[in-house]
Amino acid sequence: MESLKDQLIREKLPRHVAVIMDGNGRWAQKKGNSRIFGHQHGVTAVREVTEAAAELGIGYLTLYAFSTENWSRPKREVDALMSLLVSTISSETKTLLKNNVKLNTIGCRECLPPNVLKKLEDAENKTSQNTGLTLTLALSYSSRWEIVDAAKRIAGDVKAGKINIDEINDEVFSKYLTTYDMPDPELMIRTSGELRISNFLLWQLAYTELYFTEVLWPDYRKEDFYEALLDYQRRERRFGKISQQI
Ligand code: FPP
Repeated sequence: MESLKDQLIREKLPRHVAVIMDGNGRWAQKKGNSRIFGHQHGVTAVREVTEAAAELGIGYLTLYAFSTENWSRPKREVDALMSLLVSTISSETKTLLKNNVKLNTIGCRECLPPNVLKKLEDAENKTSQNTGLTLTLALSYSSRWEIVDAAKRIAGDVKAGKINIDEINDEVFSKYLTTYDMPDPELMIRTSGELRISNFLLWQLAYTELYFTEVLWPDYRKEDFYEALLDYQRRERRFGKISQQI
């Protein structure tokens, strides 16, 4: 039997895959452990998917690691997630460099604790010349925050006479978003059986294929990722047109 990876059509891979990594808490609770234990094991899945995407030559992988709303979780969990982030970035930067992966972050940078921001910036700088996969971590990110922020900056530029109101269109608006230098995702995966977008890339997901799986994030492995890609390759993307026009 041909492996799932071998069944993938290389020319039809998405350029950008976005992922809502969900189910760490439930995974840990099922095992009678603390939610933090689930997040720690979630790092293995992050590694797997990043490696799979890099190996396949996918250009962009965007992971929803911490939402604006996640700040209201118990302080213990927030602190643990922040330190997990710092330790993971420290330990993985070498691997990112070896695999030509460029690290990028989107979200409210000033909302992050200074030590976290510093680590992220160091890793972003170290990997900035890499030309393979761009791995974007959405941190203290929410799509409504991003859209409101873009609207404010556009208003500022109109006020300053830098652009005219008539010039504002989809393309111009996109340039004010945190994803200004990336293509929109062709595929969005959410784990753990939840069927929601949860304030993630609302603008960018306009025509994205959505894929939901019951697998809890800490259990997510390369084979699960290949399955999602195969499902994507079986779909017909019409962008509002009819089949015959594609
Ligand atoms: C959602 O599960 C997961 C998160 C809020 C955090 C994601 C973080 C990681 C995978 C680890 C660190 C990441 C990186 C990039 C190093 P949940 O807690 O909402 O699970 P639940 O819905 O079962 O409660």
